[in-house]
Amino acid sequence: MTGVSPITLDDVTPVFLMRLVAAMFRAGKVIAFNQSRFAISRYLWYILTMEYALKERIGKPDLFTGRKDELAYFLKWIDNIKEEKSQSTALLARRKMGKTALMERLFNITFYKNDGVIPFFYEIKENKMWVVDFCKDFFLTFIYQYIAFKSREPGYLQPESRSDFEEVAKIAKKEGLGYLVGIIKDAAHAAAHEEIDILWEIVRQAPQSIAFRQKEFIVQMIDEFQFLNAMIYLDKEKKNLADTLAGGYLSTAESKIAPLLVSGSWVGWLMKELSSMLPARFRNKFLKPMPENEAAETLYNYSRFFQVPVTDETAFLLTGLTEGNPFYISAVIRSHYPGKDLTTLEGVSRTLEFETLDNEGSIKLSWMEYISKAFPQINDRNAKNIVLHLTKHRDREFTRKEILDTLKLEMSDGQLEKKLKALVMVDIISQGRNDFRYRGVNDTIFDKVFRGVYQEEIDGFDVSIIAKEYRARFEELKKQYHRLLGEFNYRKGYFEEYLILDRLLFRAREDNELLKSVTRYLPGDFNFCEYTRVWRYNSTPGYGRGFSVDIYARAASPVDYSIIGEVKSRDSRKFSREEAEAFERKFDEVKRCEHLEKVVGFIFSRGGFTLEAENYCREKGIACSEDERWLA
Ligand SMILES: Nc1ncnc2c1ncn2[C@@H]1O[C@H](COP(=O)(O)OP(=O)(O)O)[C@@H](O)[C@H]1O
Ligand SMILES: [Mg+2]
Repeated sequence: MTGVSPITLDDVTPVFLMRLVAAMFRAGKVIAFNQSRFAISRYLWYILTMEYALKERIGKPDLFTGRKDELAYFLKWIDNIKEEKSQSTALLARRKMGKTALMERLFNITFYKNDGVIPFFYEIKENKMWVVDFCKDFFLTFIYQYIAFKSREPGYLQPESRSDFEEVAKIAKKEGLGYLVGIIKDAAHAAAHEEIDILWEIVRQAPQSIAFRQKEFIVQMIDEFQFLNAMIYLDKEKKNLADTLAGGYLSTAESKIAPLLVSGSWVGWLMKELSSMLPARFRNKFLKPMPENEAAETLYNYSRFFQVPVTDETAFLLTGLTEGNPFYISAVIRSHYPGKDLTTLEGVSRTLEFETLDNEGSIKLSWMEYISKAFPQINDRNAKNIVLHLTKHRDREFTRKEILDTLKLEMSDGQLEKKLKALVMVDIISQGRNDFRYRGVNDTIFDKVFRGVYQEEIDGFDVSIIAKEYRARFEELKKQYHRLLGEFNYRKGYFEEYLILDRLLFRAREDNELLKSVTRYLPGDFNFCEYTRVWRYNSTPGYGRGFSVDIYARAASPVDYSIIGEVKSRDSRKFSREEAEAFERKFDEVKRCEHLEKVVGFIFSRGGFTLEAENYCREKGIACSEDERWLA
């Protein structure tokens, strides 16, 4: 179960706040209002500022899910900057694994925490840019973010113009940050005279220089760092590539007061660049696929948000097939497949086929766009053949010799090595255990997109095979699902915590009598009601308090009971008295922090309760159930 603080940025929406306030006034709860004043002013502050905070590309902040370990790791890393203990780090993962989502969230948390580290986030775009324009954009983005942080005015994160030095100097003065004017003038002068080397030196060093002079700490997050040497041009006509800009970070990246967190989607390429140009300056950290529980949570979160229903079983299949890739999850839920139905096996299967094989499928589109950029240098029949062969046998590695022999390639070992290196560099295949071993990338969906496009061309392959493979994989997953249910003596509900959340959100009121009849120790005047929101706290570690609850259903009206609950799933053990006591402590803390008056604790434990736990719950008035009808 994930743990979380009860108040996170994600949990508070303007609508929610308005409803909360309206409900309080409706009920004439002046006292409650006074008690809640602190909480409300905190909410208000979040909302007023949230509107203008760095807009996350993920869309609604609510959608951000999981990445608990990574958030905890990097928030600690950011915190450690104050002790000058954090070394510059490269966050590596193939595209669409959630690097930008993670960095933007780190930016926003660090911004709101306002705890001695100033966040700077810059994405290097995959567009050609003249170096002077790039430097201006980089520098002014930094200066505006810095001013936004110091003035606590998030409006500056989205300035009208990012090319007007005079304007930003004026704003700096107005906000009492006159010490910025000198460096702004220097950068403006270098830009106006197109003194490229000086300009890059000034802007690259700006975060570190300002941190040093002001005795501050800055975290510099640069997204898609590999494009620094591939997209910036020395001339306005964009003919001469400035391919040594990244090298400038040789000393900058050693800074302990303004260390870098860079990311890269072109993993092979970035790793090579870092090791050749910036040796030992960066620690590599790979962003792995989400673990199963987070992937399931993401799936249910998207399902609820976009109102695309899934069942427990189809959720299991989709979680298995998307292999912890948040983009694949979002693409399937949001798919434009006509007549999409993710509640049946057939529907899921068709949607996935559409997404991977159809020219309008967003997964296919996204990979084709990438391949068209990454592949041209190596886009010949042999290269495709090699990729197809390796992806077909993804479970093992191949030596160069094996590849030459099996595919009967007419080229020297040296030529083959060059080709394979290029493919590794763009992450279309992976390096094996040593320099002469290679393997396909571990991504079933990518493999199918690739084969769907190229295999026909190579060996007259019939694409409908891929659909068959999906179905075969579904059958396997389905068996696994039923085996797991059997193992835990379940008849339904592998992801039962989500079934219960959905139940509360969508159907608790109409099922009031039934649910009451299968739940013990509810207060006499209890009724299931309308809830403003029903959610699992998505813990944002290091932000707010860190306790966890699986269910928090906030009643729309203060005269009704809210519910704070725990779900014990995938476990046939009985719920123990110690666990019940631990739950009670969490319950008290949430109740206090959320200023809840009418609230009931609820434990759903599939394996039932020990006698001691049962007695404890009865005594404390904690509602209990193990009844499957909760999952219907
Ligand atoms: N933690 C997350 N929670 C929910 N959705 C996510 C998360 N991370 C990524 N996504 C989804 O995956 C997509 C790709 O993520 P992104 O951060 O752009 O990947 P990258 O930067 O690695 O290419 C996002 O647009 C979003 O839909
Ligand atoms: Mg990105």
